[in-house]
Amino acid sequence: MEKQLLRFLVNDQEYELFINPKTLLVEALRDHLGFAGAKRGCDTASCGVCTVMVNGMAVKGCSVLAVQVNGMNITTVEGLEKDGKLDPVQAAFLDEGAFQCGFCTSGMIMSARAFLNETPAPKDTMEIRRGIEGNLCRCTGYNSIVRAIDAVAKGKYREGA
Ligand code: FES
Ligand code: FES
Repeated sequence: MEKQLLRFLVNDQEYELFINPKTLLVEALRDHLGFAGAKRGCDTASCGVCTVMVNGMAVKGCSVLAVQVNGMNITTVEGLEKDGKLDPVQAAFLDEGAFQCGFCTSGMIMSARAFLNETPAPKDTMEIRRGIEGNLCRCTGYNSIVRAIDAVAKGKYREGA
């Protein structure tokens, strides 16, 4: 299969890739561009460890081909920190100890970020749980993750603080 030239923004920087059109987005990010925050787990769109944002929406990087996001704006966990300041979701995850082995964490943070962008004031923790239901965590039991997202929603963490 002939390679294709793709162009997209990753974390506000332009990249060009000349790759096999069968390349998954998560492969393009990890293996071709070095953004290893998005992990590979199930490769069947079930676990969420590969989650990134495409044009602001949470997308599982194993479920789309890189060619499908040609020309789009991609954010990985590496792009959340701005001017040396953690994103509020990252800060809250640290404070609440919302991870153990860490394998799910970058995908979980990206889903939480996309959820809060769309739903800045969730009405209860059930809504938060529904917002991250596409992401599995085998370690934490989810309570600390939900607490962290809830704390951000309640304004405990400010952008750039
Ligand atoms: S690796 Fe993509 S959802 Fe599991
Ligand atoms: S912290 Fe281990 S899978 Fe979530």
